[in-house]
Amino acid sequence: MEKNLPALRIGDLTVNPPIIQGGMGVRVSRSGLAAAVANEGCVGVIASVGLGKFESVPGSEFVSINNEALRAEIRKARSMTKGIIGVNAMVALSNYESLVRTAVDEGIDLIISGAGLPLELPKFVGDKNVKLIPIVSSARALKIICNKWKRNFNKLPDAVIVEGSKAGGHIGYDYQDVVEGKAPLLENLILEVLEVARSLEPEVPVIAAGGVFDGKDIAHFLKLGASGVQMGTRFVCTDECDVHENFKKTYLDAEKEDLVIIKSPVGMPGRAIRSKFVEDIQSGKTKPISCSFRCLKTCDPKSAPYCIAKALAQAAEGNLDDGFVFAGTNAYRCKEIVSVKKLINELVSEAKEYM
Ligand SMILES: Cc1cc2nc3c(=O)[nH]c(=O)nc-3n(C[C@H](O)[C@H](O)[C@H](O)COP(=O)(O)O)c2cc1C
Repeated sequence: MEKNLPALRIGDLTVNPPIIQGGMGVRVSRSGLAAAVANEGCVGVIASVGLGKFESVPGSEFVSINNEALRAEIRKARSMTKGIIGVNAMVALSNYESLVRTAVDEGIDLIISGAGLPLELPKFVGDKNVKLIPIVSSARALKIICNKWKRNFNKLPDAVIVEGSKAGGHIGYDYQDVVEGKAPLLENLILEVLEVARSLEPEVPVIAAGGVFDGKDIAHFLKLGASGVQMGTRFVCTDECDVHENFKKTYLDAEKEDLVIIKSPVGMPGRAIRSKFVEDIQSGKTKPISCSFRCLKTCDPKSAPYCIAKALAQAAEGNLDDGFVFAGTNAYRCKEIVSVKKLINELVSEAKEYM
């Protein structure tokens, strides 16, 4: 099919259709999904968090095992596509710098970085041609990043992702506001961020994320002024998504009211699918932790009610009794597992209809 939505341009990269597949950890978006998405002209993103089997090795190997697993995933993705591959790295990770350096060393096309402000990111990349894309939840956050990068590194972001509160995984808003539906609307955030992005020289492309589910949503945000969208939830229900089929099945089985907000040891709220494990942690029950790796800068294993790294890793391996599944508000709308090609073709033809 002819694909003629406006292309997303990130420096010298052309993304068409203008869709970024959101990085999804732990072990949800790896080389298989990223390469399939990149083969359609979009950006495929490997989530760098917890790729190594850290659960089964001594803590002293935590950093190296995750670096090597990331390296292997990037190489595998490259062997499957000539398209654009990015890595998602969360600022909150204690091994953030070494994951970024590994991705840069492997010649990654772009780094997407949220769960905190990536104020030092350009330092880890040096003069390599790697596009740097922060994820923000306000115009203020973008201003802070730009001021700091300009002053310290004479650099601006190559694009910015604005993530609203309907997203899956960790959400950059106050827990209570998210639970009560008081977090700002993505539409308003986009307009606010566009004002800042358009005042910069060169202008920074703005990408909308969080609750973008179908072609109509894509058209809506493009018409509002976004240059592209980032989508996570929708890509979980694809053949190529690397996660265990039990994980995908929780999406297919979910009802609207099963999408709930939890408190994460990352220090942010997160959106997950209701389960026994989720109900336990919501009601204040704790799950015993023995931590030898300290993966999060923000987590104190002595007081954390559960280990989120292990819970997410268990879910990714299909063991949903000892873990839980992150998902966006629209996960309950996923009705079948389709190929990435079919999904993207559908999204594009729908979006074109509404443009
Ligand atoms: C299962 C899952 C895991 C995620 N993991 C990460 C992550 O590791 N890092 C990150 O920055 N965002 C993460 N996200 C957010 C996505 O990258 C994406 O921005 C978001 O899901 C967009 O909203 P949508 O799911 O409504 O499309 C995750 C989302 C999901 C659903």
